[in-house]
Amino acid sequence: MLEVKDLHAFYGRAHILHGISLEVRAGEVVALLGRNGAGKSTAMKAIMGLVPPARGEVSFAGQRIERLPPYRIARLGLGYVPEERRIFTELSVMENLEVGRQAARAGVPLWTEDKLFALFPNLARMRERPGGRMSGGEQQMLT
Ligand SMILES: Nc1ncnc2c1ncn2[C@@H]1O[C@H](COP(=O)(O)OP(=O)(O)O)[C@@H](O)[C@H]1O
Ligand SMILES: [Mg+2]
Repeated sequence: MLEVKDLHAFYGRAHILHGISLEVRAGEVVALLGRNGAGKSTAMKAIMGLVPPARGEVSFAGQRIERLPPYRIARLGLGYVPEERRIFTELSVMENLEVGRQAARAGVPLWTEDKLFALFPNLARMRERPGGRMSGGEQQMLT
């Protein structure tokens, strides 16, 4: 589903990713472990195109994506959940979800309340709760 080969990324002249390779198959959960500052977030951002990869290949669902801008990658169905959360603290859970809802597109499954709350049952019990009055972990689920 997602295949990364020999990925390199820089911030200016600082060489952060030195050829990372990984594969994620459909339905699989893969964790990337490393000390603070090792480059985990940079790896996710490089896969998503938020930090342009300097070298290497990224394929998603059979398509090469390492030269695409982030919005095109997102439209293919690849998501990135930032650890900074960035939810709207004054809006309710349901309102936050509506803000993030995208128009229907061919080939991309639509989320529904049922599917979402089956995945995150905790959120189903706090639909009207303002985002700012949830725990860090609950806010991360909402993100
Ligand atoms: N926007 C940035 N500009 C310059 N250097 C950065 C930037 N973001 C992260 N770095 C540096 O890149 C390295 C990897 O950071 P990061 O990928 O955030 O690490 P991790 O997520 O594994 O903790 C660190 O040395 C960090 O200081
Ligand atoms: Mg990080």
